[in-house]
Amino acid sequence: MGKKWIKEHKKEHYYKNAKRHGYRARSAYKLIQINKKFNIFKDIFSLLDFGCAPGSWLQASVEFISENLRKSKKNIKPKILGIDLKRITPIKGADFLQMDIHDTSLQEKLIKFFDNKKIDLIISDCSIKKTGNKTLDQVSQIKICDRILEIAIVLLKKNSFLILKCFEGSELPKFVKSVEEKFHKVRKFIPEATRSRSNEIFLVCQSILY
Ligand SMILES: C[S@@+](CC[C@H](N)C(=O)[O-])C[C@H]1O[C@@H](n2cnc3c(N)ncnc32)[C@H](O)[C@@H]1O
Repeated sequence: MGKKWIKEHKKEHYYKNAKRHGYRARSAYKLIQINKKFNIFKDIFSLLDFGCAPGSWLQASVEFISENLRKSKKNIKPKILGIDLKRITPIKGADFLQMDIHDTSLQEKLIKFFDNKKIDLIISDCSIKKTGNKTLDQVSQIKICDRILEIAIVLLKKNSFLILKCFEGSELPKFVKSVEEKFHKVRKFIPEATRSRSNEIFLVCQSILY
């Protein structure tokens, strides 16, 4: 079995599974694999998902949080919000805001949505449309991550996780360093469901330093 066969087989496997399960994209499995490795959904009842369209991460998040609710004896009303430039077909159990993450009114809107309370988990699969120019793409993607970081610092609960999608490349170490100055623990992770030719990498950031 050649590398190409394995790659195609893997792609096909996640695509088929996503279809069978009703996920809108294969990327749901990236989040599922991040959770399997880092247990990010443990005791989570509020969540913010940046760059959520078409919505597979939101679908998986609703499932994880519903399971948490089922296990919990507490009477908690979950708050799950996705944001994207593109509109999504509604997902039961989640709210949606069509907005650019760079919009200056976003933070106020989020504070209001989450009733002035800090958020249990912030995830981002938000990514730029690649131009093919690796350096340029990396810089634009870091701009997105910087903005999400800025919001997370204000809105995320102290001991919680922030998941950030980045691109591998020469600019990444400097960015990781800046994230390490803000979080106790920052780990890099490439889920198996990520295409082998992709240079995407997730930062799993844990516990904000104040
Ligand atoms: C890879 S997709 C996310 C897939 C999603 N996690 C899922 O599982 O369905 C990346 C998304 O980021 C969004 N995006 C890119 N730049 C954005 C911005 N400035 N503000 C809001 N969303 C943005 C894109 O519109 C796109 O839908």
